[in-house]
Formats: sequence, structure tokens, C-alpha cells
Amino acid sequence: MNMRFEPSGALRGTVTVPADKSISHRAAIIGAMASEPVRVRNYLDAADTNSTLAAVQKLGAIVERRDHELVIRGCGLRNAIAPGEPIDVGNAGTLMRLLPGWLAFQQGSSFELDGDDSIRRRPVDRIAGPLSSMGARIEAREGRFPPFTVHGAPLTGIDYVLPVASAQVKSCILLAGLVTNATTVTEPVPSRDHTERMLAAAGAPIERSQGQPSGFRTTVGNADELELGLIDVPGDPSSAAFLIAAGVLVKDSRLVLERVGVNWTRAGFLRILERMGAIVLADLEPPGTFDPREPVADIDVRHAPIEATTVEAEEVPLAIDELPLVALLGCFADGDTVVRGAGELRVKESDRIATVVEGLRGLGADIEALPDGFVVTGTGRLRGGRIDSHGDHRLALLGAVAGLASEEGVEVVGMEAAAVSYPRFAQDVAGLIV
Ligand code: S3P
Repeated sequence: MNMRFEPSGALRGTVTVPADKSISHRAAIIGAMASEPVRVRNYLDAADTNSTLAAVQKLGAIVERRDHELVIRGCGLRNAIAPGEPIDVGNAGTLMRLLPGWLAFQQGSSFELDGDDSIRRRPVDRIAGPLSSMGARIEAREGRFPPFTVHGAPLTGIDYVLPVASAQVKSCILLAGLVTNATTVTEPVPSRDHTERMLAAAGAPIERSQGQPSGFRTTVGNADELELGLIDVPGDPSSAAFLIAAGVLVKDSRLVLERVGVNWTRAGFLRILERMGAIVLADLEPPGTFDPREPVADIDVRHAPIEATTVEAEEVPLAIDELPLVALLGCFADGDTVVRGAGELRVKESDRIATVVEGLRGLGADIEALPDGFVVTGTGRLRGGRIDSHGDHRLALLGAVAGLASEEGVEVVGMEAAAVSYPRFAQDVAGLIV
């Protein structure tokens, strides 16, 4: 489906963004591992997180949809049922990488996971390696791509140093670590910590320590059972980022985004914007905080001129999904905006270095790819044109925001990709245009 986004008049008003995708996935998976029913308020109703609900139901969890919440009646830690047919993860990389952490210790059972064409290009060796060293057996196409099968086994703890910070890989290992005496994951720099917070809230023994040269370490130990009670999912800061960028770029805009998650491990984009001189007010969580409750705040955004900035490797995991927007903002900033140390972008739903550079250049941007990022020279404007989503939700939404801020409008080819995280973006924007 193609959709046009015309140059916009001021965006004004208050909006509630969709629920957090990362936290919703975790609520469904950890809810399915729990022994007592888990109530989830504001679960994200979008394609990715619906794939997760379908997956946990296939494994034996019961999901009841009530008026204002879901109730998940889990299987307990060790009682997932092998469905006898592949589990379809759809387009959801987070589901594909987290679920095997649980499946790996379902002794004597095997589980095949598969997904769409984009999922079949995304590597799983980064989880297969550590899970194999814990004792599970993983068979994957060409040793590293879906479809792949997880053969459950008794697991032993490992001390694993992640080559690249990845919350998905970290989370997978920590879930598997719940049946070991001690499993430690060390990251070079911190990544989103929703799994750790939710496991702590569920009563699992979790310890964190930080500091060089040891890196950022998280240790989990044996949990007899998990109990979560109620989870209230905040608004997704990564979805909010598209409206925030629109508010910053479109003249005379003033937007308030309500109840957005402001966990410091997700707030990198807001800090980048602050450096660029954007006017974005929010009560952010202090860096380093570890609180089982996810913090929320309203975010107040106004249009203002912006300056270029540089994003280095330490900041990348804290803003990984928002880096395409940093490229767009760079087009309007004064100077050269540089993103480095972000090679991970190449293994997202699309190769987001290639698709962002090609896509924005096609709209008139002065942008060059680096092996691990990009450089954008600000010209203070963007012509517009056509951009292909390549089936990647963040590219579709990037094109939409680019259209609002452009001179001639943007036609997004493949706008339906946005359905995995922010299905009602176009309607939300229409309601804000003065
Ligand atoms: C996610 C982690 C990130 C992110 C993805 C969601 C998660 O991936 O890009 O959209 O929910 O854990 P990596 O941790 O692999 O970088």
C-alpha cells in the first residue's frame, strides 16, 4: 500500500502513543513462563506483539482478552507444550530471539521457529552460540538463519561476554539462566533492561553491577517460579520518537505525548535531541537507575531550529531504533550530523544503513553511508519524493515524517509495514494537523 504524506501545517495537541513493543513482548513471554495469572494493561495491539500472543498460546498459555486488559494464564517455567508444527514469529525479531531462552530448557521437547521473508534474513547464531554452550541444541538453516529448531535440555550456567550490546541476545540468555545456579551476561555498553526489570518484579534473583573494565554485568540465578501480578505497559518511546521528530521539524508545532516510557536505557534519542538544541521537555529517569517499575512521563515538544551532533558507539544501544530519525533530523540541522559504531543497524528488519541512506538521498538529502553509520550534511530542507519501506516499519514511519517536514510531500511505498508497531500513525497525525 502506498500512502502520501503532504507538507504539514503546525502539529498541535495531545496524543497517546501506542504501547511499548519491547515491554509487551516481554509481558507475554514472561507471563507465559509464570505460575500465577498475569494481568496486562495496555498490551500493544499490533502485528509483532500479536505474533507473540499467538506463539505463547501455541505453547500452552491461555490468553483472555478482557475490556481493558489481557489475562495470561501461563504454563509455569518448565511446562511449555511442543506444538508439533512451527511457531510463526511473523516479522518479530524480539520474539524470535527471546522465546528460545525459555524453550531451551524444556527438556526432551523440540520447537521449530520460522517467520516472514525479512525474519529469514536475520541471524540467530548470536543466540544459538550461548544457548548451545549452556547445553541446548539448536539447528538452523545454513547454521545461522530461520527456520531453526530448539531442542530443550538441562542447562548449566555460563559467563557470557556479548561481542556487541544487544538487549535481545542478553534477554535470551537471562531467560535461559533462570534454571541455572548462576548465569552472567556482560555487555560492552548498556542496552535496554526491560527483561531484567520484569524478572526482578517477578521475584527472580537478579544482580547488576557496572563499571570498566568489567563492562555492564547482569547475573541471574535459579528461580523456582515467576509471579508478576499486574503489568501496566507504558507508551513506546520508539513510536513516540516519530511524533517528536515531526513536532521538532514542522514549523509552529507543539505536541504533548502522554504516558511515554522514559526508562533511561531507552531515552538516548531524547538526549541526542537535547544536544541538537531541540525543545523537548520530559522528566527523564536518571542514568544508572534500576527500578522494577518502568518510569513514565509526558513529553512536551516544540518546533525549534536544530544543530548537528555526533552519536558514538556508547550511545547507540540507547537509541538504536531511533537512529534513522537522527539522519532525518540531520538534514534540517546546521552542520554535519554523524552516527558511528552502529553496524547493528545492518541486521534490523532491513539493512537500515543502506535503506536510510538510499531512502533519504532519494528525497534530496545530502547523506553518505559509513560501514557502521552515516554522515548527513544539513541543508535546512528536504525536497520530498518517493521512499520504499522495504517492508521495514521504521522506514515507513521515517518516510511519513519526512513527508510532513518536506517541501513537496513524500509517497511511502509499502506503508503497511508500519502495522507491526504503529498501525494508526496516519490517523494520529491527521488529528494533530491544525
Ligand atoms: C529490542 C532490542 C533491539 C531493538 C529491537 C527491540 C528488544 O535489538 O532494535 O527493536 O526489545 O530487546 P538489539 O537488542 O538486538 O539491538
